[in-house]
Amino acid sequence: MGNPNRSKAEKGLMRWVDDRFPATQMWEDHLSKYYAPKNFNFWYFFGSLALLVLVNQIVTGIWLTMSYTPTAEGAFASVEYIMRDVEYGWLLRYLHSTGASAFFVVVYLHMFRGLMYGSYRNPRELIWLFGMAIYLALMAEAFMGYLLPWGQMSYWGAQVIISLFGAIPYVGEDLQQWIRGDYLISGITLNRFFSLHVIALPIVLLALVVLHILALHEVGSNNPDGIEIKKNKDEKGIPVDGIPFHPYYSVKDIVGVVVFLFVFCIVVFFFPEGGGYFIEKPNFEPANALKTPDHIAPVWYFTPFYAMLRAVTYPLFGVDAKFWGVVVMGAAIAILFVLPWLDKSPVKSIRYKGMICKIMLVVFAVSFVILGVLGALPSTPGRTVVAQITTTLYFVFFLAMPWYSKIDSTKPVPERVTG
Ligand code: HEM
Repeated sequence: MGNPNRSKAEKGLMRWVDDRFPATQMWEDHLSKYYAPKNFNFWYFFGSLALLVLVNQIVTGIWLTMSYTPTAEGAFASVEYIMRDVEYGWLLRYLHSTGASAFFVVVYLHMFRGLMYGSYRNPRELIWLFGMAIYLALMAEAFMGYLLPWGQMSYWGAQVIISLFGAIPYVGEDLQQWIRGDYLISGITLNRFFSLHVIALPIVLLALVVLHILALHEVGSNNPDGIEIKKNKDEKGIPVDGIPFHPYYSVKDIVGVVVFLFVFCIVVFFFPEGGGYFIEKPNFEPANALKTPDHIAPVWYFTPFYAMLRAVTYPLFGVDAKFWGVVVMGAAIAILFVLPWLDKSPVKSIRYKGMICKIMLVVFAVSFVILGVLGALPSTPGRTVVAQITTTLYFVFFLAMPWYSKIDSTKPVPERVTG
């Protein structure tokens, strides 16, 4: 591949492989001759970091599985055994539990970059849709993984989420039972969540990530200016504002990886419980179906949606408020899927959009964070009102987008990428 200093034997071997498998072709298409815009910034670190965290989760997950027992009788004790007796078991577990939170930090920042620079827009709609499918799979993966330590919060968190399906009229009760495989959350539920968490969903996630990157490499990366670099090519057909991914961005991404690992290791070694947000306090007690914890809250990455669920307090058309809460929560995620078709602005990047789009993006981000905080706290009448306002703002960002993105002023987009 690419290297002119190869010995004759190496060249021969490479030719032998290439005649049978497109190794050099793939290396060139995806790395050494994949031309990425030269103006990537801080926000472009998070795709490669998401890949890193994915690998971390798979590797530590495999080793945790070697010592974990997926039964109601054995699960909690096996996690204690991993923490105390297995060589470096504590490290494996903390890498995995911190990795779960890191995954969502990285993916939320990655998605926000997409919102800022219009990376979801034509011709990148499929990259975004694969991304959203990844996000759904990731939420399912995290939810099922959280039941496995069989602590109080594992049990009652799963109880709350599964009971949401019970709010669906007519089929709810049966659906709940089908998910649990029992009349209550039991070892049967734990066992099926285990198999989905360690086999089915990781395969789905990996496949989706491959599709996500193939779709990206088909159309090429967007950039902070939202300019299509493929529109401006030199005589060899290479984009004038593009640089080969390898070595330029492979080296740049390593800088991101080192900084990320510094922060990640500080959490793993010094604050693995994340102040009760990464591993919640009630989870140090074994699951007990007869004792409800004082305050049940999902892990931080689900709290914005949980706050939306609780914000709906009125029954409608004779159906329970809880059902409408579930509908609102589902709609909050579903609406992200159609985002590429809601944005009607003539420009992609926030840099060249007008004040209305900028304000709406800030309002959206702040509302999401406020909802996240509210979802982690016990509800009070005052907090419910704030959750209702911020839920409304969340939806206004999307539903009013076809209108405000069209009428908003724009700045002229330069021909070539800027710094
Ligand atoms: C396991 C999770 C994910 C992995 C490993 C991953 C990986 C990547 C990588 C490596 C890139 C190229 C580098 C970069 O632009 O940062 C990328 C780009 C992109 N990703 Fe993801 N991604 C994930 C989740 C998501 C999600 C949840 C979304 C949105 C719903 C998303 C939307 C995008 C978009 C729109 C781009 C193109 C960005 C641009 O060119 O400006 N990704 N992803």
